[in-house]
Amino acid sequence: MTLQLGDTVPDFTQQSQLGPINLYDYAGDSWVVLFSHPADYTPVCTTELGMVSKLMPEFEKRNVKVLALSVDSAESHTGWIADINETQGCSVEYPILADGDKRVSDLYGMIHPNALNNLTVRSVFVIDPAKKLRLQITYPASTGRNFDEILRVIDSLQLTDHHSVATPVNWVDGQDCVVVPSISTDDARARFPKGVTEIKPYLRMTPQPDK
Ligand code: BEZ
Repeated sequence: MTLQLGDTVPDFTQQSQLGPINLYDYAGDSWVVLFSHPADYTPVCTTELGMVSKLMPEFEKRNVKVLALSVDSAESHTGWIADINETQGCSVEYPILADGDKRVSDLYGMIHPNALNNLTVRSVFVIDPAKKLRLQITYPASTGRNFDEILRVIDSLQLTDHHSVATPVNWVDGQDCVVVPSISTDDARARFPKGVTEIKPYLRMTPQPDK
């Protein structure tokens, strides 16, 4: 199955080191970052899962729950988490799915056999509270992810869902935004009282409306 942006993501129930997890129940009214890694007890993954644990306050601030996945067992996850906590100075408390039967990996297309034999690649899925897929990124096994970038995209999605703006290159929360093309400059000036700068008729900037 190939998931595309805007699709309703498939539900599943799978084991984790914290017991069975049903995606839709786990998500509730929150956003979800679902991310896979190739294997437990591997170095890049150890740093990634540690960083996600340290970023939990940032995820919580944005109403985001996190859910990791590999094809290793729940017992393996539990042993490895002790190593992650020891080496990364953190406390991993979020669930890591134990997808030994590859049910979730197959549903979400996380196994790319020409890249990695029978193991999940580094996939990231951002799912909104309506269970729609909003972001999908696939990284190679040799490249650890940048979870600040995932948070940045969530900031952009949460902003642009509620305001008629888009976010320009390398935008981070608090910076000026682009007025969406469907709004005339006159309408934009009425809608954005902090001001609209027309650089070109199609390129109008405004301060971030919710700041
Ligand atoms: C790692 O997480 O360190 C890793 C996993 C699979 C292949 C290469 C690196």
